[in-house]
Amino acid sequence: MMTRSESTRIGLGMMRIATLEPNQIRDLYHGAREAGVKLFDHADVYGGGEHGCERLFGEALELSSSEREQIVLQTKCGIRPGVPGFDFSAEHIIRRAEESLEALRTEYLDVLLLHRPDTLVEPEEVAQAFDALESSGKVRSFGVSNHTPRQIDLLKMNVSQPLKVNQVQFGLGHAALVAQGVAANMEGLEQSTNRDGGLLEYSRINGITLQAWSPYQRGFFNGLIFDHPELSKLHRVLDKLSKEYATTPTSIATAWITRHPAKMEVIVGTTKASRLHEAVAGAEITLTRAEWYELFEAAGYQIP
Ligand SMILES: NC(=O)c1ccc[n+]([C@@H]2O[C@H](COP(=O)([O-])OP(=O)(O)OC[C@H]3O[C@@H](n4cnc5c(N)ncnc54)[C@H](OP(=O)(O)O)[C@@H]3O)[C@@H](O)[C@H]2O)c1
Repeated sequence: MMTRSESTRIGLGMMRIATLEPNQIRDLYHGAREAGVKLFDHADVYGGGEHGCERLFGEALELSSSEREQIVLQTKCGIRPGVPGFDFSAEHIIRRAEESLEALRTEYLDVLLLHRPDTLVEPEEVAQAFDALESSGKVRSFGVSNHTPRQIDLLKMNVSQPLKVNQVQFGLGHAALVAQGVAANMEGLEQSTNRDGGLLEYSRINGITLQAWSPYQRGFFNGLIFDHPELSKLHRVLDKLSKEYATTPTSIATAWITRHPAKMEVIVGTTKASRLHEAVAGAEITLTRAEWYELFEAAGYQIP
């Protein structure tokens, strides 16, 4: 029998800790650990371009080596800090990863993700950076974020390490990842437009873990699904299922993501440990097929 701490697929996103005091960061971290959360998701650009949230986290926690070994520290690079655009040059990747180590006060990253695709990417340069970071023991594994299958294939031409993770936005308020496939081959239906090149199936076929970012946001930061005025039908179904499962809408919205057989991880961005406990509880609920599709339809998606 697995304990919660061995099984939860909930991670804590650190993008919103910039406004927290050090004692609040400690409370959030310890609350997360009590809930069984091991994965902590950072980026070099959270909290301002220069490793702001990473630094707050590192300074507030000063993790012991035994505690450090029990968690998964993940960060991202590749967005140019403070200016538009992206940079997947070897120099940029190595420098930013090394700066992240210093800010987080750790000797290694468990996972480094390339944050958003750089169309000027030279896969050889990414390979050079990953090889240097891996051989020096500074990064243990690698992945991407917001990448399409063909962008991953392009990287794989030169990168020898497995790309284990792709972090993409997914949830009831932004379900394009699954919605296109549900309505495949439907003429004149916006939902049928293939924008990501079959990312869901590609990830399952290639053993890439999808991580769902901003799981409770509607679109790209257009408000929360729980009180969005255009989602009253979804609110009714979330409330109904919350009563049936004696839980909360946050738990049900999380269960909707973890129910998918792609076995996604969910990167929750709360600053409150109590909300994270709700997410962890949700990941333990297995919705029926009927409930899953009812929520999907209530969120405004079409089922042909
Ligand atoms: N790879 C990428 O491109 C990318 C992009 C964006 C984010 N991310 C990652 O994803 C993580 C999560 O993103 P996110 O913070 O946007 O996700 P989120 O978990 O959907 O949103 C968290 C925000 O929603 C609020 N919230 C959640 N449930 C609520 C409820 N029931 N009632 C009221 N407020 C509620 C939280 O407030 P409270 O703090 O009060 O709970 C917090 O402000 C980030 O921290 C980051 O690690 C990655």
